[in-house]
Amino acid sequence: MRGKVPRMTTGKKPKTSYRCKNCEHQSPRWAGKCPSCNEWDTLEECITRVATKTSNAAAVFAESIAEQGSMHEAASLLEIKAPAIARISTGIEEFNRVLGGGLVVGSVVLLGGDPGIGKSTLMMQVAMQVAQRGERVLYATSEESAYQCKMRAERLCGGFEQSKETYSGLKILADTDLANIQRLVESNEPSLLIVDSIQMVHRGDLDASPGSVKQIRRCCLELVYLAREYNMAVIVVGHVTKDGQLAGPRVLEHMVDVLLSFEGDRHHGLRSVRGVKNRFGTTLEIGLFEMTQSGLKEVGDAAAFLDPDMPPRAGAVACPAMHGSRCFVVEIQALVAQGTYGQAKRRATGVDGSRLTMLAAVLEQHASIQLIDQDIYAGSVGGLRLVEPAIDLALCMAVIGAHLGHPLPAGWCAIGEIGLGGEVRGVPHIEQRVAQAKRRGYTTILVPITQIDKLGQEAVPVASIADLTGLLEKNNDNNEGEKMLSDDKKMEDSLPC
Ligand code: TYD
Ligand code: MG
Repeated sequence: MRGKVPRMTTGKKPKTSYRCKNCEHQSPRWAGKCPSCNEWDTLEECITRVATKTSNAAAVFAESIAEQGSMHEAASLLEIKAPAIARISTGIEEFNRVLGGGLVVGSVVLLGGDPGIGKSTLMMQVAMQVAQRGERVLYATSEESAYQCKMRAERLCGGFEQSKETYSGLKILADTDLANIQRLVESNEPSLLIVDSIQMVHRGDLDASPGSVKQIRRCCLELVYLAREYNMAVIVVGHVTKDGQLAGPRVLEHMVDVLLSFEGDRHHGLRSVRGVKNRFGTTLEIGLFEMTQSGLKEVGDAAAFLDPDMPPRAGAVACPAMHGSRCFVVEIQALVAQGTYGQAKRRATGVDGSRLTMLAAVLEQHASIQLIDQDIYAGSVGGLRLVEPAIDLALCMAVIGAHLGHPLPAGWCAIGEIGLGGEVRGVPHIEQRVAQAKRRGYTTILVPITQIDKLGQEAVPVASIADLTGLLEKNNDNNEGEKMLSDDKKMEDSLPC
């Protein structure tokens, strides 16, 4: 059931007023003469307790929790009933996936990301899709004018003005005052409120500038109460600081129900939305998008991270990596270059930098590869962030390949975790990974020796990273041999009889 929840008056704060002894007239300020009966010196101070907006909202929030059982009595675990969770589909499958199936009514989602990454674009797309489904949407923009929003909407969906009825439920409010946003929510009762961005919204009664921790914290808390009070979904947009933290040092994270991170390189088209915290679903899923001329397009095809026409190169190894329930075959690249002895650099983009440093040490120790004076640069192609240790084997092969100058043969990929002893350890979802690699046309899949039983003939077991150097050198010798044979054949064919 949607709509405003009736107010309670439990939360109160004291307020001073003045009452006339003669006529009972009440005045907010003291005066020598009563403005009603004109008697002198009759006003007396009295303290009244008045409910405030915030405390009302807090009370409503408490009431919604209390609906599931008394706040003061403990309930048996078996007797507690799960409340029905109503969700609003955003109409964007990749975004729904990260949310755990859509926006939960009465919840607050915080979307954080670098400036210019595409947050407002995604929010406008979500607003238009939800409005298309006949829901009321209020888009409160505190950074742009209403006209700028309209121009963006036109870019995303050219000629939308022809279908007036479709978007009639979408209202744009260009205001930075939270009180105005609250007022419009009261009059419109939208299903979805988008606040873009929280850093620019402020409350006039707070003695702090917009964007300060005090303002951000208070405004976000008010929005949480508002979401509960009006039973609507709220999405709050937040910028991140240079070091990647949400501005207002993590103050908002505990208040919201879902925290999403919008990531990607501004110079690459690929963008990903990742769940950092989700009270209504998993945080393992990611939503993939590509920024195009007409907004964000969903990337459902897992081959987006591979260029099938690229010939095998030294230092490039494909790896079937898991993201939530999906598997993507991603290319991992490494470059090994001469550095300074004892001060060699380890730089990573898209893969874990500290893991790269550790793997370089393991390679030195257990694969007898000297890297102490070599700079290592490693990354994932396409800008996808790979955090799971299951990519270790592919990363090590990329480093060895780059160091020796040996490419992996065409149609090869690798998956496995590397232990500190140099052993190749098992990884979760191995069958799914191998199946996905096969689907993408890989004919030789290097896998941990402990998991070989479950897999088909394409799987080749690897026990330790000590085996990798031999494997690369052997295949390279074969390739060289084959290449020489085919060159000789070409020469013979071209000779005159
Ligand atoms: P924007 O959504 O405003 O980023 P944020 O709100 O995170 O600051 O837009 C980011 C960039 O995307 C902007 O530089 C222009 C570009 N863009 C496109 O390439 N195509 C589009 O259709 C739109 C709307 C924006
Ligand atoms: Mg923006």
